[in-house]
Amino acid sequence: MKFFVDTAEIDQIKELNDLGMVDGVTTNPSLIAKSGRDILEVTKEICDLVDGPVSAEVVALDAEGMIAEGRKLAKIADNIAVKVPLTWAGLQACKTLTDEGTMVNVTLCFSANQALLAAKAGATFISPFIGRLDDINIDGLDLIEDIRTIYDNYGFETQILAASIRSANHMSDCAKIGADVATAPPAVIKAMANHVLTDKGLAGFMADIEKAGIKIL
Ligand code: E4P
Repeated sequence: MKFFVDTAEIDQIKELNDLGMVDGVTTNPSLIAKSGRDILEVTKEICDLVDGPVSAEVVALDAEGMIAEGRKLAKIADNIAVKVPLTWAGLQACKTLTDEGTMVNVTLCFSANQALLAAKAGATFISPFIGRLDDINIDGLDLIEDIRTIYDNYGFETQILAASIRSANHMSDCAKIGADVATAPPAVIKAMANHVLTDKGLAGFMADIEKAGIKIL
């Protein structure tokens, strides 16, 4: 499973990228607003830093506006994936931009039917939002499973990009189901390294290191 990092904070992307943990980046208008940066400038900086796809979201609601914005975003760098919402207009924009050779990430997906439409429109990525479904007591992981089944049944090449990830468990669950990509905030990716028994084991080793005066350097 590929790891995308879900942030527009350059320092955090760089830290994870230096460790080889970043296969791509996703941003959205809320993350851009949080960064306090100009969307075109910060997106260009991210594209220069990371080799993989960098999702940048349109702000128009109509297809024509989304296509025009998508074309402008696509000019930033070769690794831009234009992000469009899963509306009828978004699907129209997806088809046009995809036909022009631009990667498209269809976002705000909350149902298998929406994912089916995105695949038909040629989306490069479909972004089902796990956490926001969990928030309303619908199991977001069930949606990932359903989309995996449907895409595999028909050989759709659209990649399942599990989004709205809130915990380290979401990451391993998505990997078990077979999501192609998961995008997570840096803190969630780092939290994947944590285990209480690792901490306990290390504390025991440290006590023995001190008792025995073990030194290597
Ligand atoms: C990524 O593409 C999504 O925009 C993001 O994962 C949404 O996450 P949230 O539901 O935590 O805002």
